Amino acid sequence: MSRSPASAPSLGDGPTMVAASPAEASVGTQALIAGHERSQLVRKLRVSLTSHCNLSCFFCHNEGQGELKRAAVGLSPSDYGRIGRAAVAAGVGELKLTGGEPTLFRRDDATILDVVRSLSEARQKVQPLGISMTTNGVTLEKMAERLADAGLDRVTVSLPSLRDDMFKSVARVTTSRSLPSVVLRGLDAARQAGLTPLKVNTVLMGRPGSGGWSNVHEVAHIARVLREACVSEWRLYTLLDHDGFADHDRWYRYWTDGLLHEVLAQLGVANAHEVESLFDRVSDTSQRSAYPKLALELDVDGLRVVIEALESGRPVSSSFSDEGPYALRLSASGQLTGVLGGQSGSVDLMPLLKTHHAAGDRALASAFRTAQEYLMPDALGVGI
Ligand SMILES: C[S@@+](CC[C@H](N)C(=O)[O-])C[C@H]1O[C@@H](n2cnc3c(N)ncnc32)[C@H](O)[C@@H]1O
Ligand code: SF4
Repeated sequence: MSRSPASAPSLGDGPTMVAASPAEASVGTQALIAGHERSQLVRKLRVSLTSHCNLSCFFCHNEGQGELKRAAVGLSPSDYGRIGRAAVAAGVGELKLTGGEPTLFRRDDATILDVVRSLSEARQKVQPLGISMTTNGVTLEKMAERLADAGLDRVTVSLPSLRDDMFKSVARVTTSRSLPSVVLRGLDAARQAGLTPLKVNTVLMGRPGSGGWSNVHEVAHIARVLREACVSEWRLYTLLDHDGFADHDRWYRYWTDGLLHEVLAQLGVANAHEVESLFDRVSDTSQRSAYPKLALELDVDGLRVVIEALESGRPVSSSFSDEGPYALRLSASGQLTGVLGGQSGSVDLMPLLKTHHAAGDRALASAFRTAQEYLMPDALGVGI
């Protein structure tokens, strides 16, 4: 990829939008770099509600929780309510519910709806709390309205392919239903329920010459369908390597291996070279201390396409650290960690949850502040 430092933007003063390209006018598709400062990242908490799932994607990292299985020790909706209040008290303003598949959360008779209700009660006027969910979308058609009523603000839906055969190969399930149709109906139900702005995640797979199939050639089609489905944002990722993913090399392709060019061509981006030079800035790790999370954002005919580059090197086996600094994470068994997999330390909330009084709540809030201080990636020297 060609680099053109002269035309590349310098990092601006704005807290989120780092820079728009001075050469933007000549870029067919509007492109800019968006960055999140550390102070914004500590305001986010990613909560894995369960390690159980109704799909079995061959690449799944399961949020670093190990093999897909029911969590041995699960938290209750009221535990999540307490955690939510403690998180808000420590300055967290955004909760992302994830899994496994979060819509499958079960604890005795309680369901995901009870968890969302409980978290929703943790919203405070002084520190508002946004609650979103990343889901595979399979149960969304029947649950979207109830989730919205319970207090969920919006959803991000993962979509590996619009081809039913490929979707099923990825998810390793057999069913007579068309899974892409199921997910698209789920997206529509989410839109109708007001779980917006709708976002979709797609992990790009397939390496030329490796003999397998790929979803890269579907980019133009998926973008068109997502626009029709009133999706606001499409996030494109490359595959992370991890211990449970023996075949990673066969499916992995880094953006600079021609992938970005191919994606831009499919999206109909007129001046791909200028966008590519912006992308070089996104993957430039020297910017990471000021802006740990950088992404390239493209406005393609009203659909925001976001590319979050990993480090320019490829992910290291048995470590998730190259996923970069995102937010604090809470596992289904109550461990607070700073990076995916939690290999750099964790804070155990379980003993604090057993104390059912104000002292326990204060200890939870203090545990959050400790985690924000010591487990965030810049404290650990990760991704910078
Ligand atoms: C672990 S899933 C949990 C939520 C839900 N089950 C889903 O699939 O959206 C969260 C996100 O991680 C992504 N993901 C899982 N394994 C990955 C890997 N090895 N590399 C990159 N992304 C991955 C999924 O595609 C999904 O968008
Ligand atoms: S749907 Fe999500 S949690 Fe389930 S296997 Fe796929 S990526 Fe993993």
